[in-house]
Amino acid sequence: MNHNGYILAIESSCDDTGAAVLNKGKILANKFATQEVHSRYGGVVPELASRAHQRNIVPVVDIALKEAGISVKDLDAIVFTQGPGLMGSLLVGASFAKSVSMSLGIPCLGVNHMKGHVLSHFAHRPEKESPVPEFPFLSLIVSGGHTMLVMVHSYSDMKILGRSLDDAAGEAFDKSAKMLGLPYPGGPWIDRHAKLGKPIYSFNKPRVDGLDMSFSGLKTSILNFLKKEVALDPQFMKTHMDDICSSIQTCIVEILIEKTERALDEFPVKDIGLAGGVAANSALRTAIEQMAEKRGIKSHVPPFEYCTDNAAMIGIAGYFALKEGLKDDLSIMADPNLPF
Ligand code: KG4
Ligand code: ZN
Repeated sequence: MNHNGYILAIESSCDDTGAAVLNKGKILANKFATQEVHSRYGGVVPELASRAHQRNIVPVVDIALKEAGISVKDLDAIVFTQGPGLMGSLLVGASFAKSVSMSLGIPCLGVNHMKGHVLSHFAHRPEKESPVPEFPFLSLIVSGGHTMLVMVHSYSDMKILGRSLDDAAGEAFDKSAKMLGLPYPGGPWIDRHAKLGKPIYSFNKPRVDGLDMSFSGLKTSILNFLKKEVALDPQFMKTHMDDICSSIQTCIVEILIEKTERALDEFPVKDIGLAGGVAANSALRTAIEQMAEKRGIKSHVPPFEYCTDNAAMIGIAGYFALKEGLKDDLSIMADPNLPF
């Protein structure tokens, strides 16, 4: 076995097939294949997702290895997303990783997808040294599948402080967009329209104790609002799209910021990290930056390629875990409900 510090990372929890190559904890390549097929259905279709992973995984790994300038024989370890995610999708990555591990005789390690998001701040190219959050830091993870506030004490010691009890914030964006007739995924479309509008409409905000959140009530509130307005003016959505999007976005961002502020009141740390696909939202980024400035703390948002589902973050989480001596044997299974 070689010991050059090369790790191959695989991410296949949802609808993107990702492969990354790391060397001594630095990202040499971070590639993925997106599955366009789901936009036709307005959401991810699990059966189609696993088939596409099966089709994409070998070519994506091949491209990542080529970009990193190494061959599969140079690898020292392989890490993959064990869960949480869609079973059929996870199985493709897990089986691939275990086969590579077995044939090359290199260690194999399953990584928790959410811990990957939390550690995405530490994904850097060799030539790029950007500031990273200092431990302990508060991490706000907002994606299409998850919304959680995590206190991060070290690369391995982290605790969930609060989470959405129903829909994820990204889901709230996507479902609202669907009601408005916007394409899937709708988050970026709402963001785009919101830039041209004003938050003149208000919706019922859920009341949830502590640091947990809820977004499903908001969806109902938006639906009732739209039904009422469209009954009065059938063109309402078309003519007021920008203001409607701005109002929805403002409401979602306010819920997230309110809970983040409460977490910081309870646990006054000096750094806050935002990650997950919704971290691309311009209003959320600005709100987090302004909140951090007001509190005199530092905010961190990784480059977009490490915010959405990606293999680099799985590689980074795997790198730190391998450094701590962790490894799995080949009996490891994909787990769609893997606990944090
Ligand atoms: O992390 P991610 O790529 O996949 C999941 O793990 O779900 O996140 C995708 C989510 C989708 O819900 C998408 O609508 C949302 O991130 N998203 C956005 C923006 N860009 C992506 N939501 C709001 N504003 C954006 N600019
Ligand atoms: Zn994710």
